[in-house]
Amino acid sequence: MKEHLEKLDHLLKLITNKIEEAISKKQLIEIRNAYLSKKAEINTMLSILKSLTPEERSVFGQKINSVREHLFQLYEQKSNLIDRADLTDKLNKEQIDLSLPSVNYTSGGVNPVFLVRDEILNIFIEMGYEVKEGRDVESDYYNFELMNIPKNHPSRDMQDSFYFSESLLLRTHTSPAQARVMEEKKGELIKVVCPGKCYRRDNDDMTHSHQFMQIEGLLVGQNINLGHLKATLDLFIKKMFGPKREIRLVSSYFPFTEPSVEVEVSCAECDGQGCPTCKHTGYIEILGAGMVHPDVLKMSGYDPEIYSGFAFGIGVERVAMLRYQIDDIRRIYQNDVRFLKQFK
Ligand code: PHE
Repeated sequence: MKEHLEKLDHLLKLITNKIEEAISKKQLIEIRNAYLSKKAEINTMLSILKSLTPEERSVFGQKINSVREHLFQLYEQKSNLIDRADLTDKLNKEQIDLSLPSVNYTSGGVNPVFLVRDEILNIFIEMGYEVKEGRDVESDYYNFELMNIPKNHPSRDMQDSFYFSESLLLRTHTSPAQARVMEEKKGELIKVVCPGKCYRRDNDDMTHSHQFMQIEGLLVGQNINLGHLKATLDLFIKKMFGPKREIRLVSSYFPFTEPSVEVEVSCAECDGQGCPTCKHTGYIEILGAGMVHPDVLKMSGYDPEIYSGFAFGIGVERVAMLRYQIDDIRRIYQNDVRFLKQFK
């Protein structure tokens, strides 16, 4: 019995020292495995209880329990202490140095053609127009025939396209959306804008691209005249380019409108005085428009004796180029971040 008690005292001192000397989590775990695990002496010694007399058992039992309790408590305290020290240490080491230069992420911006498209659409939405999209792949019938451009019509030359088959092509303008909307509305009044991509087999140069974006406008009602068209476009131009801009209508030709006009806006650079930007004319051509041709109305089921309307086609890149002074249309499609970054 005496030797058992001495053994306990010895273990208490030994393990207490070990725990006190430990300075890392790793050391502490080694101590636990060696001295406090189920197989460690401090625990296996419990089996001695069986061989003792009742009096001895009570003395030894109390002693071993208090020793064990003390050691476990000590271990727990030390463990917490080391955890806290480790954390402080880690926090000190990982402190963020706010004076260091940050990592440089480059982000682009929304392509100006989309910015301008949305801006144009919003102006027309405010005027009560509905937005409808046509299709990129169109049939010859919608792209040309219903737009009053029959086979072998010379104006087809200006709109060569990319063909999938003899009758299926990438649309050359958004005008076929006019026919699709009229077909859908069947005699109701119409006030729509139709944005979308167009394609032409053009040589790419500073002002042309084989792919571009247009916004088609179509208004069909009764007693609609050129004055309505002019007022609408004047309002649009002033909202887009500022209240000082003036428009003028120049006689033109499109097979699907009669009369047809080219709309020009007074040059913002020189205020209409004449400068290199407007090629010294004081005005810049910005879109094509006209009164819907009676044959176009008729082909799409609107009686031209009752209905009349106007249509316009806005080249979005052209507006974007004027708006942001972009010198070359190809920049819009090259996706160069240095270019796109400027449009945040
Ligand atoms: N579709 C014509 C073009 O692409 C533009 C236009 C649309 C002209 C509507 C008049 C009316 O050139």
